Amino acid sequence: MPTLLVIQAHPHIDNSLSLTVGQQFIDSYKAAHPADQVIIRDLYTPEGVPPLNDQTMEAWRKQKFSEKLTADEEQLLNRHASWLTEFIKADKYVFINPMYNHFLPAELKQYLDLTAVAHKTFKYTAEGPVGLLKGKKALHIQAAGGIYHRDGGDPRGDLGDLYLTKMLNFYGVNDVDKLFIEGADAHRDQRQAILDQTLADAKTLAAKF
Ligand SMILES: Cc1cc2nc3c(=O)[nH]c(=O)nc-3n(C[C@H](O)[C@H](O)[C@H](O)COP(=O)(O)O)c2cc1C
Repeated sequence: MPTLLVIQAHPHIDNSLSLTVGQQFIDSYKAAHPADQVIIRDLYTPEGVPPLNDQTMEAWRKQKFSEKLTADEEQLLNRHASWLTEFIKADKYVFINPMYNHFLPAELKQYLDLTAVAHKTFKYTAEGPVGLLKGKKALHIQAAGGIYHRDGGDPRGDLGDLYLTKMLNFYGVNDVDKLFIEGADAHRDQRQAILDQTLADAKTLAAKF
């Protein structure tokens, strides 16, 4: 039974374009793949994404030198391990986020830091780094107020998608689909039309994803 992991990197607000398209994709995916498992990993919880901070570095140091961890450090490393295992075990990924300040929300960057672990998602060889998540696929759903990917928009201005795709490729995930909901802030009169078009694209993609 394949598992679809939905990484939801969005604050909990109404009328979000990316969450609306994401929900459409999930509903259509479930209808088309009723036996699959769908897991939603919300990055905007009070506990948040396990961080790479002072406490994590100290816990890793202690682990390396077989020193005794405090209960808090043990709990932190357990959280890291369980989030990483969830990511590795999934067969397909959906990332949902708004564009914030020409990039991904910080929580999603933190999630990519959490999942970039040598010997788990990639390894270094004499020929350079090799991804360990081969054969998996991903979808990036992102809303932006401006236009980057259509009507002559410059995709190099979308650093978030470039970075996410780079990290997925680094993990060995080379099959990366995209659903961009763009220009609804720049062209407010077209908001509904932009949303409707992407909802239709989400339905079509979900059936064959
Ligand atoms: C803090 C903040 C930063 C933003 N930065 C950008 C940006 O750099 N480029 C852009 O095109 N839109 C930017 N926007 C607009 C959002 O990407 C746009 O409103 C999008 O629809 C938000 O996604 P959502 O509808 O799923 O919430 C920004 C919005 C906010 C709130």
